[in-house]
Parts: sequence; structure tokens; C-alpha cells
Amino acid sequence: MSLSVLDAIYQRRSIREFTEEEVAMKDLTEIIKAGIWAPSGLNNQPWRFVIIVDETKRKEISTTTHYSHIVLGARALIAVYLDKDAMYDDVKDHQAAGACLENMLLATEALGLGAVWLGQILKKKEQVNAILDIDAAGYDLMAVLAIGHPAHHNQQSTRKDLDEFVLKTL
Ligand SMILES: Cc1cc2nc3c(=O)[nH]c(=O)nc-3n(C[C@H](O)[C@H](O)[C@H](O)COP(=O)(O)O)c2cc1C
Repeated sequence: MSLSVLDAIYQRRSIREFTEEEVAMKDLTEIIKAGIWAPSGLNNQPWRFVIIVDETKRKEISTTTHYSHIVLGARALIAVYLDKDAMYDDVKDHQAAGACLENMLLATEALGLGAVWLGQILKKKEQVNAILDIDAAGYDLMAVLAIGHPAHHNQQSTRKDLDEFVLKTL
């Protein structure tokens, strides 16, 4: 990893178009490792992951979201879950999942890969769980990351002016 944290933060864009090149398992492992080094309340590390590289499974997952074209184009998916048994505080555990997911996105950027956080897929999380054979009584799906080698770097994104977010400086 050679990018500084700030470079990764500012360079990262949601990548929705990928080449056909496979994503190395060691890179997927590194992305998950970055995720698990996110902070969590009481260091309870409530995140759990399902790595999906199998083409048949990816095709099945693609049927569960409006963004099927992104899922079909990505050579790897990582489903991020909260382990209900590991949770201790609903808000804080969901915040930890967000921190985990952002770490994963930044690691993806640092590895020269691209990814997008898929949240719309949560509308069909029961179907996703069934496809992945995950027991919904034990695990709550937070998001699916679609990961691959970026087809291009033309993605544009904007942010409002900083002044719009800072309520006050005291
Ligand atoms: C909670 C959450 C859910 C998202 N869900 C989707 C999604 O379902 N499909 C998608 O294409 N992008 C999704 N995104 C990506 C956002 O659209 C993207 O981060 C935003 O437009 C800013 O663009 P940037 O990431 O390139 O800076 C999601 C992002 C977050 C944080």
C-alpha cells in the first residue's frame, strides 16, 4: 500500500464498471483485514463477511438488486453482516459497520482496485441471505461491496461546501 490515507480518501470514487480481470484472493483478504481494523464499541468487532467470487452465486445475487448490472460486472462481492450475538448497542454497532465498510473501500482504493457500496440490495436481504445460506436470526446484512478492477477512472463526484456542514465553531 503506497497511498497516504488522505490520498485514498480524496481519490476514492464509487466504481461501478469493471474489467473482466479476476480479483486476487489475497487482495480480498487484505480488504477484509482493513475492515476488521476499524474501531468498534468495546472492541466487540461485530462484523462478519461472506466472500463471493463464484460466477453462479454472483449471478444469483444480481437478481436481488436494481443494480444487477454492477453486480454482474464485478468479479468479487463481499457481503458485510453484523453478528447479532456480538452486538451490544444498536446504534454503536451500526456505526462500527459503517467504519468497517469505509476502511474496506479505502483499502480497495489503495490496492488499485475499485468498489461500490451497495445499499439498495438491503431491500431484498432475505433473498440475499437465502442465496448465501446465511441465517437471518443470527446475522444482519449491512451492505454488499461490489469489487473489481476499474474499467476507467472517469467517475465524478461532488461534495457541498464545507461551510454547509459546520454548524458552528466555538
Ligand atoms: C449507505 C450507502 C448506500 C449506497 N448504496 C448504493 C447503491 O445501492 N448503489 C450504488 O450504485 N451506489 C450506492 N452507494 C454509493 C453512493 O451512491 C456514493 O457513495 C455517492 O454517490 C458518492 O459518490 P462517491 O462514492 O463516488 O464519492 C451507497 C453508499 C452508501 C454510503
